This record gives sequence, C-alpha cells and structure tokens, in this order.
Amino acid sequence: MIVIKTSKEIEFMQESGRIVALAHEMIKNAIKPGITTGELDAIAEAIIRENGATPSFKGYHGYPASICASVNEQVIHGIPGGTTLKEGDIISIDIGAFKNGYHADAARTHPVGKVNDKALELIKVTEESFFEGLKYCRVGYRLSDVSHAIQKYAEEKGFGVVRDFVGHGIGRQMHEDPPIPNYGAPGRGPRLEKGMALAIEPMINSGDFKVRVLDDEWTVETIDRSLSAHYENTVIITDGDPLIITFSNDEVESC
Ligand code: MF3
Ligand code: CO
Repeated sequence: MIVIKTSKEIEFMQESGRIVALAHEMIKNAIKPGITTGELDAIAEAIIRENGATPSFKGYHGYPASICASVNEQVIHGIPGGTTLKEGDIISIDIGAFKNGYHADAARTHPVGKVNDKALELIKVTEESFFEGLKYCRVGYRLSDVSHAIQKYAEEKGFGVVRDFVGHGIGRQMHEDPPIPNYGAPGRGPRLEKGMALAIEPMINSGDFKVRVLDDEWTVETIDRSLSAHYENTVIITDGDPLIITFSNDEVESC
C-alpha cells in the first residue's frame, strides 16, 4: 500500500531532508585522502543528532553505523570503519535521518582527490540518470516510466544498472511501498499521485550490472570489480514540479 502524505507530513519530511542534506555537505567537505570512513560516520552522526534527529540506518535490521560508505567497487551498504580513503578512490555516502516520526534518505558519490576520467564519468552519468527519471515524477506518469528513463540513460552511456537493489517509498518507515527499480519497461506499475514520497536511487556500475553481498552480510560489491556509483534523493510528487527534499541550498541553486 502506498501511503499518500498530507502537507503537514511533507513539512516534517522536509525537516528530515534538510538534516540529511546538511550531513551530506559536511561529509563532502571532509572527504580527502587520509580520512577513514569511520571518521565520516562520526561527523554525520554528530550533525544529525545536533539537529534533533536520529540516524535512520543505525540499528536497522542490525546495521551497525549511521551512514553507508561504499568505496570503489562497493555498490551500497559499505560499513564505515577503519578504511582509509586514498587519492583516486570514489566513495558513495548514503544517509538517512528520522525526526518528528518521518524519514528522509539520500546518497551522493564523491571523488577522493584527483580521480580518472572514467570514474568521473560514472559519477556524472549516475546523477544524470536520476534526473532523467525525475522528468517522469509527475502526476499522469506511471512508476516504471521513471525506472525506464533511468535504465535507458545509463545503458546508452555504456554502464550497468544494478537490478538486485531498488529505490522505495519513504515516510514513517524508511522503506515503504512502492519498490522502485532502476530498470524496466515503461507504462507499468502504479500511477503517480500527489503526496507520494519516493526515494529514487540509481546504482550504476562502470562494468556489468551483477553484484554480490560480502560475508559481512551488508556490503554489496560488483562481481567484476568494476567501479560503482550511487545517487539518491527523496522526492515528493506534487501537482506541479517534483519536490526534492534532500537538496542542499547549493544544489537547489544549480538545478
Ligand atoms: N539508504 C538505504 C536504502 O535506500 C538504506 C540503507 S540500509 C541500512 O535502502 F541498513 F544501512 F540502513
Ligand atoms: Co534509499
């Protein structure tokens, strides 16, 4: 069942989204060669709690940290810890915050220092694929129109679209209906309605789409060890343009 949010609920979600965006900004500024993913996790947890929220991920099905930090061939759900970032790495950071009973969720992929052109292109195409999907986040389209647009864009650029993990509705629960694949034929699934809150999150590989879960039971990596990027925002369907509630002020201005 897809829960339609009232304008009051959307206001609460916007507050959670603002905190997620703030945490992402702090992490972006902290990322440099020599920092550990555990240090990034501590930065995010502090800013989330200082703003009266709790990290959505901590304790979720036993997840041990506040953020996910997935380096290079890691796709999602990398557990922060002693991994030290080095020049040339890319790192995907996923953050969720819960306040006033509502979650918001967003992911970004960043270069560490100077990285090669292929890695930069992967990051860019992953972001762009989200915005291709966003074009269909309007009343009148169906959910798989979003999925299809993401897949088409990423595959035309020669990248692999992860199938085994998908986006999701979000609100009182971090994961609500509907599941949102980043692939599929257009014109299927529920019709988009005003008040839907959707976490849309393309996970794109520079090589094959196939992934596996490591022995830690969380970290997902590409089977062919190709690089992977992740970009996610929490999006509200309105009767006009979609509302992205996990943008920083800078991101709003550049959009
Ligand atoms: N942001 C992730 C998602 O969109 C959730 C991370 S899973 C957790 O599904 F267990 F780490 F919380
Ligand atoms: Co998500």
